[in-house]
Amino acid sequence: MEVTIERILPGGLGLAHAEGRTVMVALAAPGDRLRVRIDRVKGNVSFALIEEIITPSPNRVEPPCPYFGRCGGCDFQQLTYQRQLDAKVEIIKDCLRRLGSIENVPEIQITPAPNAWHYRSRAQWQYDAIRQRLGYFESGSRRVCDVAECAVLASELQQTLENLREQMQNGSLPEDALDFRAVVGDEGLSISPGVRSPTVREGVDSIEDREEIRDIARTIHGETYLLNAESFFQANVDLLPELIDTALGDAGGDTAIDLYCGVGLFTLPLARRFTRVVGIEADEAAANFARENVVNAGLSNAEVANRNVSDWLEQNAVAWLAENMECGDMSSLSDLRRAGAALQRRPDFLLLDPPRTGAESRVIAGILNLQSRHITYVSCDPATLARDLKKLIAGGYHLDTITAFDMFPQTHHVETVVHLLCEF
Ligand SMILES: C[S@@+](CC[C@H](N)C(=O)[O-])C[C@H]1O[C@@H](n2cnc3c(N)ncnc32)[C@H](O)[C@@H]1O
Repeated sequence: MEVTIERILPGGLGLAHAEGRTVMVALAAPGDRLRVRIDRVKGNVSFALIEEIITPSPNRVEPPCPYFGRCGGCDFQQLTYQRQLDAKVEIIKDCLRRLGSIENVPEIQITPAPNAWHYRSRAQWQYDAIRQRLGYFESGSRRVCDVAECAVLASELQQTLENLREQMQNGSLPEDALDFRAVVGDEGLSISPGVRSPTVREGVDSIEDREEIRDIARTIHGETYLLNAESFFQANVDLLPELIDTALGDAGGDTAIDLYCGVGLFTLPLARRFTRVVGIEADEAAANFARENVVNAGLSNAEVANRNVSDWLEQNAVAWLAENMECGDMSSLSDLRRAGAALQRRPDFLLLDPPRTGAESRVIAGILNLQSRHITYVSCDPATLARDLKKLIAGGYHLDTITAFDMFPQTHHVETVVHLLCEF
């Protein structure tokens, strides 16, 4: 079948219409004239693979990676960098209109990555001990694509991948490991499961011989964060100062809530601007790092609850606000305002940065119940973002600004920061 690609859809596939069908084509560029093969059909949508590029789009470039098309990692390498950025803005707008039912989508600026290659300072490599493969899952499968060199890894991680491959070849990797995670710090890096460095690896053939998972420090925008390979940390640190500045805007005041706080990326800068801050994080190790990071930063006005966000919102949020909104002695107008706010028990600022699945319905209900004056939603998935925004808007918020960050060049993924203000 021959098709012409019209545009890129959320999920990164190219959209075409031909022979009465809607066709979605992997690894396509808008404007491509292609001969495609239908791979599978779901409802009235046919998913297709490229057999031949009849006329390449002017937006198409030669993907430099030898694993492109097999490795499931990068699905945008066929696009010029500018076209990748444009496609990401289109993807966000498409989700907001279709899934968020938002008619007038505000203008969306996207900040390009300073480095379109070799930007990742955190990685997860799949390991198949039987077939002796180390790399990433092939697209749409659990088969491991064996990767010797990855063009989006920071140089320290490329070196780590090479070290692990050397250990795989001489049989010194732990056989029961299914994957390896690594994250780069200011100095050195952390790997999970712990493995010996190549210089001291002789005799390592059992789990007991593994090294401990090392804690490392990463300094971002003047704040230092302790973390390790097992807790979440953003994969592209180049854009983090701008991401933090945009997420916080000119916010400041009495109380701020940081939902899904990880190791405290936003908790620390929030604590510099608000009188009282609480971060909520379900992962125990990440929550402990966040607490340590708050203390090491010399901040005594922030606390971290190791809780599931929905439980905390249902059981603790109101009590936390009541405890932390003091009325003062009411000798000035601002004290009176504080007293009024305290009686209403509304936070000044609430930030949420959930995983790709977005916020559960219970979380949205809990957020709406708090009536925060300002909400910042940081999202790595435009589809779940749009779904959740629809509910927040129905609950009385309106969109103020939307900004995108290209945290994941060469892939269809994009980070979005949305500011919402209340209408009550
Ligand atoms: C996208 S990360 C954001 C972390 C942090 N804001 C940052 O930028 O580094 C999402 C975080 O939410 C945590 N998480 C996932 N589900 C959760 C839940 N139901 N309740 C609380 N935390 C959760 C994860 O452990 C992870 O640290």
